[in-house]
Amino acid sequence: MSRLAGKIAIVTGAGIGIGAAIAERFAREGAFVYVTDINGETAGETVARIAKAGGKAAAVVVDVSKGQDVTALVRRIDAEHGRADVLVNNAGILVRGEVRNLTDAEWTKLREVNVDGVLRLSRDALPLLRKSAAGSIINISSIMANRGLRPLAAYTATKGAVTALTKGLAVEYALFNVRVNAISPGYIETAITDRMLRLPQARKFLIDKTPMGRLGSPDDLTGAALFFASDDSLYCTGADLLVDGGMAAGL
Ligand SMILES: NC(=O)c1ccc[n+]([C@@H]2O[C@H](COP(=O)([O-])OP(=O)(O)OC[C@H]3O[C@@H](n4cnc5c(N)ncnc54)[C@H](O)[C@@H]3O)[C@@H](O)[C@H]2O)c1
Repeated sequence: MSRLAGKIAIVTGAGIGIGAAIAERFAREGAFVYVTDINGETAGETVARIAKAGGKAAAVVVDVSKGQDVTALVRRIDAEHGRADVLVNNAGILVRGEVRNLTDAEWTKLREVNVDGVLRLSRDALPLLRKSAAGSIINISSIMANRGLRPLAAYTATKGAVTALTKGLAVEYALFNVRVNAISPGYIETAITDRMLRLPQARKFLIDKTPMGRLGSPDDLTGAALFFASDDSLYCTGADLLVDGGMAAGL
């Protein structure tokens, strides 16, 4: 399998969860993957799994909310490869809480990681992506981007911004032959959803709301990411692909 042979990919938040699954799939398909995460230990573990499976990757500590981390990453990739073909803006955090109780600090943190991080990476990596024959940015949004769910209004607002930014950037970056698409997951069993899904009532509610009758796993997202990363999607930009077991269709 080598649908990404020769491609250079960057995945943010790739230490665990969806980002790790995407990084590992990309490496299996022949990409060299920059596995970036705020947590260097888990990023290293993802790279170790990739290496064990015969793939190529490098772990880099990058907090997407810190401009200097992103600048250093871009400089390193420029020095090592001179270009990037794929950027997956996956890093994200969840802050639970009703808006009326949300502190400025909580909102700022949520926005700095989930929105500013996507904009910063997409802006600062453009010089690298422009040098690709088929640059591709993939933003991980959410089916909740345009819906309400208590107590997640602030989180869903950041995902609404990611979906809107995806469409705006798609129009702008078409000038440079760089595609920009979003993937909107439904409910996926990861650290972010762990607390909620450990509540039997919440788990049952969400499974009942999913026409396919099960929650998703990080591996369920990797096919969509591979599609947008590969040359199979050369004429797709500004798309928002739902990977949710049918949940949004049925809501
Ligand atoms: N799990 C779901 O049900 C679900 C649904 C819709 C969207 N999403 C989105 O998918 C993405 C991945 O989520 P996940 O479920 O794999 O979560 P996760 O918590 O399992 O993994 C998130 C990763 O991001 C990293 N991270 C956190 N803050 C960071 C920062 N400032 N800079 C760099 N890395 C940082 C974490 O260290 C972790 O490795 C997120 O954007 C999330 O909002 C998840």
